Amino acid sequence: MSTWPRVLVTGADGQVGRALLSEYGSVAELVGCNRQALDLSNPDQIRSKVREVAPDVILNAGAYTAVDRAESERDLAMAINGQAPGVLAEEAKRAGALLVHYSTDYVFDGSKAGPWVEDDGTNPLSVYGASKLAGEDALRAAGGRYLIFRTSWVYAPEGKNFVLTMLRLGRERDSLNVVDDQVGAPTTAGELARATREITTRVLADDFGPENKWAGTYHMTCGGAVSWCGFARAIFERTPEMLGGKTPSVNPIKTSEYPTPAKRPLNSVLSNEKLQQRFGVELASWESALDEVLALVGSRS
Ligand SMILES: NC(=O)c1ccc[n+]([C@@H]2O[C@H](COP(=O)([O-])OP(=O)(O)OC[C@H]3O[C@@H](n4cnc5c(N)ncnc54)[C@H](OP(=O)(O)O)[C@@H]3O)[C@@H](O)[C@H]2O)c1
Repeated sequence: MSTWPRVLVTGADGQVGRALLSEYGSVAELVGCNRQALDLSNPDQIRSKVREVAPDVILNAGAYTAVDRAESERDLAMAINGQAPGVLAEEAKRAGALLVHYSTDYVFDGSKAGPWVEDDGTNPLSVYGASKLAGEDALRAAGGRYLIFRTSWVYAPEGKNFVLTMLRLGRERDSLNVVDDQVGAPTTAGELARATREITTRVLADDFGPENKWAGTYHMTCGGAVSWCGFARAIFERTPEMLGGKTPSVNPIKTSEYPTPAKRPLNSVLSNEKLQQRFGVELASWESALDEVLALVGSRS
């Protein structure tokens, strides 16, 4: 019989889901479920899948992530992001499993001057942010062995994300307008997966401690901070060979000049201090994580 932990990954086709499958591939008995295999909007399916798999760890990477579309699909966003985490938490508790869940900087309103800490007051500006906050609350209410990792501005070498969008637009255009008054920490799915594996390995070895001492909410982003405009410039500076030898110019604009259905926080920067203090885990700076992803994108093109 395998002594490796059995790990159930939801949202297995997403950016973080794929990175988790690759990170845990050599240390766990993996059951990756995409939306077809486990639909998080269906509580009965969640219950029966978790009971069938009987995991030691559940990594909930599935989510409704279409931030603007959520404004007109509140019920679906709430079911997937708000209610499913609670059902997963009840099932994890029943199975004695550890539940890892990902949440977002969008639970905050962006009004703070410095980096947000875990205990700062939440005030989501969007349906997506409210649905993710409801999921956090449902998970905490269920109790059990859980870790909530709030992260921000996630991207990977594949999937729908800002970096790949910029590379596409950079090939098509010589100049772009990009929002310069929203600041955050771009974070790679690979860094999230690596940190998640390190932390879950430690927590499992400790049997989660006698008093559930690791349970809680932690901020987990790459180091540093930049605006979307600064991020776009950093992408283009590193990729002239992918853009036919050119470096498109990036013009800073204000959020008010780029209206979207969902409102987004201006300051999205999360403090990673608690993560570092509790687990001794630190993610790479956003610049070196970007280098790593661009190298992968370049090697595939
Ligand atoms: N992306 C970001 O910038 C960002 C920022 C902060 C926090 N987060 C959080 O990080 C986590 C991972 O996000 P990500 O970047 O990996 O997003 P992603 O690439 O959009 O992946 C989400 C996955 O969830 C799946 N999904 C959607 N509806 C589902 C359902 N009803 N049942 C099961 N799976 C469903 C999607 O499948 P389909 O492709 O079939 O829809 C997709 O594969 C999420 O909790 C997200 O809220 C993300």
